[in-house]
Parts: sequence; C-alpha cells; structure tokens
Amino acid sequence: MAIRSLSGAFCAAIVLSSAAFAQGYPERQITMVVPFAAGGPTDTVARLVGEKMSTDLGRQIIIENVGGAGGTLGAARVAQADPDGYTLLLHHIGMATSASLYRSLPYDTLEAFEYVGLVTEVPMVMVARRDFEPADFPAFIAYVKENAGTVSMANAGIGAASHLCGMLFQSAIETQFVTVPYRGTGPAMTDLLGGQVDFMCDQTTNTSQQIRGGTVKAYAVTTPERLELFPDLPTVAEEGLPQMEVSIWHGIYAPKGTPEEVTERLSSALQVALADPGVARSMADLGTAPSPAEDATPAALKNQLETEIARWQPVIESAGVYAD
Ligand code: MLT
Repeated sequence: MAIRSLSGAFCAAIVLSSAAFAQGYPERQITMVVPFAAGGPTDTVARLVGEKMSTDLGRQIIIENVGGAGGTLGAARVAQADPDGYTLLLHHIGMATSASLYRSLPYDTLEAFEYVGLVTEVPMVMVARRDFEPADFPAFIAYVKENAGTVSMANAGIGAASHLCGMLFQSAIETQFVTVPYRGTGPAMTDLLGGQVDFMCDQTTNTSQQIRGGTVKAYAVTTPERLELFPDLPTVAEEGLPQMEVSIWHGIYAPKGTPEEVTERLSSALQVALADPGVARSMADLGTAPSPAEDATPAALKNQLETEIARWQPVIESAGVYAD
C-alpha cells in the first residue's frame, strides 16, 4: 500500500512539475533548427512561420541552420537536445524518407521526437540552367537519356526533397546520371544560376522568383494539378510521368520527453502563425499555402509521419537507393 501511494504521489508530483514548467513556458528564446543551409526552401518556411510564432509566444525564435547528410544531421542535433521546449526542428518529407534511405540513423525517427504540427505542403518544379538546350519536358527527358554520362543534377543530399524527386525521375526514365549534393538547395541554386550544374528538382519556395524572372528554365511541376502561380507549366502526369508526383510537407518537432503542455502551446502558436493573412500571402507568392489548423497539431503530424514512412519505404526499396 505504502509503495502504491508513494508512486501515486510521485506521479502526481511529476505531472504538477510538468504543468508548472509549461505554465511559464517560454521564458527565453527558442532555437528552431533547419537541417539545411540558409537561403533554401526549408529555411524560408522556417523564418516565415518562426517570426509569427515568436509574436504569439512572446519570445524570439532564432533559426539555426545545421546542414549535411540530407537533413539527418540537423534532425540528430534536435533528437539529442534537452526536452525543454527550447530546441525545435522544422523538417520536411525527408524525415520520413530518411528512415528508409539510411541503413543507420543517429536517432530512431518514430521514437526520438515529440510532435508540434504540420506547417505547409510545397510543390516541386523541375528547373534547369537558363541556357540548357531542351525546350520542353519531353525534349528534356530525351536529352537527359541521351547525355546521361555528362548531365548533372543538383540536390541537397540523400534524404532531401530534391534527392527524392531526382530519385523518382531517374526511376521514371530508367536512367542514372551524375547528382551533385549540396548542404541545401539555396547554394545549389547559386550554382544553377551560374551554370555550374545543369538542373534540379526543387520546391517553389526556392524557385518561384527565378522562374518569374526567367533566370532558370522550368519544365514541369510535380503536383497533380497545374499551379495558379505558373499556369503554363505542365504537370509531370501530363508529360507522361505521374510516378514523379510528390509534394513536400513540412512539420515542427521537439525532442522526445518535451512536456505535452509545451508542444500544445507551440501548436497553438503555430496555428496563430498559419492563420496570419501575411503568412498566407507570402506563401501564395512562393507557390504554397499554410496547412489548415486541424493539421497544425501533434496528432496530425504524428499520423502524417507514420503514413509517409510506410508510403515511401517500398518506393525507396524498389529504387535501390540507400545511404550507408
Ligand atoms: C531539399 O531539397 O530537401 C530542400 O530544398 C533543402 C533545402 O531546404 O535547402
């Protein structure tokens, strides 16, 4: 009896201290890790949403870019952080694909994190350097097949969204070609604009400005429907490659053990940020839109991650692409 009442009191004390802890949260600035280089699409989403979350939380959210290994180094940084609500991760579909792409990760994807919520789902566009010869997507496919030994595709490393799209493309046209990894598609875009690399599949959050400005050549979008932003761009399905369809969902995570009151508070701030008209306008200019409030929740993100790991595992297995 004594032990049972003691354990009851002990649990009650834990719950009270957790609630008390969360009551004052946040008391200092929060670090949001972006697992790719500054200036890329993931960084853009994090800064846009983080700024508005800061306003609601009353504490600054600072962005820390931790690139490398397709986003898995940044994810590992957060998995190993104190579960106190002051270190967060904003990552995308790569959280799910890395679970199958890497034979060993420095964290257990489904055990190392708590969930805050979904943020946005971003289309991808196949783009090339402005002077790349092919005039349209069919000619692009033919050119890549004919010149597989010399063309080069940029990506942000195994596990990145740009890597996933490139893998789907190689599988769809049954052709392997050189891929050049960067710490993010921000720096990759610099090389594309400079002609140092031939093409890449990147998110509209990093390509919209260049497409509008004509500084890159755009061939097709990876969404089921054409984009309002670029109505003249065909979809990959229209061009005969429906297997390339992919959209890049983004979520915010915290280290395992972060109190539920904290993740719920963060989810509330995320929902306020996503409901902000300015955020919606900025996202629309970048070819995307905020996730609905019901998806900006821990349960929705948990379900999305579990569903997407199961979805991409057989695709990755059949592509035979792995990182040691
Ligand atoms: C990706 O390819 O996963 C992203 O574009 C990387 C980035 O945000 O730089």
